[in-house]
Amino acid sequence: MAEAPDSPALAALRALREANVQPKAHRVFVANATCCREFGSDKILAELQRLLKDTKIRIDFSGCTGAHFAHPTIQVQMADGRRGVFLGKGMPLRGFAEELRAGKMPLANRIVVFTLNGRVDESTAFFAPQMRTTLRDAGFCDPTSLSDYLANGGFEGLAKALDMGADAVLDTIKQANLRGRGGVGFPMGQKAEFTRKGGAAPRYVVANGEEGEEDTFKDEVLLESNPLGIIEGMMVGALAAAANEGYVFVNHDYFASHEWYPEAIAALKKAGLLGRKILGSSFDFKCQLKISTAGYISGEESALLEVIEGRPARPRLRPPFPAQSGLWGRPTLINNTETFVLCAQILARGMDWWKGIGTAKSPGTKLVSILGVPREGVMEVPMGMAAGEVVVKMGGADAAKMKAVQIGGPTGGYLLPDALDFALEFDTRRGHALMGAGGMVAVPKGKRAIDLALEGIKFMEEGSCGRCTPCREGTHAMRILVEGLAQGKKSATADDLARLARGMGTTSICGLGQTAGNSFTAVYETFRTEIEGLLGAAK
Ligand SMILES: Cc1cc2nc3c(=O)[nH]c(=O)nc-3n(C[C@H](O)[C@H](O)[C@H](O)COP(=O)(O)O)c2cc1C
Ligand code: SF4
Repeated sequence: MAEAPDSPALAALRALREANVQPKAHRVFVANATCCREFGSDKILAELQRLLKDTKIRIDFSGCTGAHFAHPTIQVQMADGRRGVFLGKGMPLRGFAEELRAGKMPLANRIVVFTLNGRVDESTAFFAPQMRTTLRDAGFCDPTSLSDYLANGGFEGLAKALDMGADAVLDTIKQANLRGRGGVGFPMGQKAEFTRKGGAAPRYVVANGEEGEEDTFKDEVLLESNPLGIIEGMMVGALAAAANEGYVFVNHDYFASHEWYPEAIAALKKAGLLGRKILGSSFDFKCQLKISTAGYISGEESALLEVIEGRPARPRLRPPFPAQSGLWGRPTLINNTETFVLCAQILARGMDWWKGIGTAKSPGTKLVSILGVPREGVMEVPMGMAAGEVVVKMGGADAAKMKAVQIGGPTGGYLLPDALDFALEFDTRRGHALMGAGGMVAVPKGKRAIDLALEGIKFMEEGSCGRCTPCREGTHAMRILVEGLAQGKKSATADDLARLARGMGTTSICGLGQTAGNSFTAVYETFRTEIEGLLGAAK
């Protein structure tokens, strides 16, 4: 049977891909993202360029693979498609270059070597259980290169979306039950629909890559390994929400992003993938980078709008919500960067693929970041995986040496070593423990519970924008009391702290103040006996 002809946008994409075809070559990528640079990745890149300059092997920079324990990594992609990730530290670069020159996949310092149809190598604990979707090509492409992105299947989701039309795209996102990856898990389809119906054009989309939450760094890896994936996802989201302009909102410390986004955006404009009548359709889209101001609160969606409009990061009163009144009072769809990448993937790969991953209520994959374990980094796992799999099996932690795992950030909760069967998906809750944005920290046995609470409330006090009294004064008062407890002064009773937490929770105007008290209450609920010995006597 003859193959069905491509519909117009897909045909335009195929033509663009053909015009950008690269000759098959061995390639080496040195991960040179923000997180890699402090480990000397620049020097390794320069040295490999020097050693291999008289060959046809291409040496490029890439984003991070997520394997932070192995910083700085080097990736090899052979002309036949085999891929390998290597430890840069201690790498005998001359020998490595010689093997590449001889057309061999080097094996010294390997972390994992992926064959064409699977993985070989014994040291795959970090990579093997992953289901890499948004990070599929992390480390194996120049993040600013359109031809690399196209060669890896890029813009297939957008082309299919343009051919389906906005209504069908919106239906698909709703049916997929794509839940926002920034922490709360609100369905993206519903927000896109509210935005579309929220008021007159112009409408906007914003990819939230602020990630000010302490010890969480999954967006950093995604932002710098897959910028074009984020922009493609924003375009699919914009189509669904009838928006035509977007902002990538990036943390002020993610320096590589500050360099790479303007380059990536310029490449897309040049190829006609940003601007007017994209891929021959009637869809127009503009996109720009906006660098966030310092502070956790800048990632809160209404504070973020203030920053883009040029004011200090202070949350707005809601309603109205951004879907009705966002940027400059216009309907605005705000999603986490990961949500946008997944949105384009659903269009590209289809509903059966998507619904086959994760759980019924939280389909798909989730990026998680883990600290305090031998193999620290960012992993992409199917929703529903047990936290213990990430922390112990993939991260390499020894449960016997762990006090707990902090999950969901400083206002999330703690899992004791016998509770690591906790499923990583949006609806699982144990006390204050929840998956949230996916940040996890293994806490060592010797750490005092009260110090965990103190670090948490200090972070909230520093993060408070000061707009409303309960949060401004409450976080300050709670910090003083918890500091006193930490110094053995019996400065507060359990009731004092519970009252403060309740007051902030019910009267603060944004999520920061509403959850700030958890930094103590979650510690108290988990390590009650330890904390009780420090508390003042009940009155
Ligand atoms: C204090 C505070 C900080 C936040 N920081 C971020 C952030 O850095 N990134 C993010 O995606 N969401 C953050 N959020 C949640 C956003 O307000 C918003 O819900 C989210 O960007 C929506 O995207 P999603 O639906 O794809 O998760 C924060 C919320 C609060 C209360
Ligand atoms: S709750 Fe805290 S961070 Fe949020 S607006 Fe009030 S003072 Fe600012």
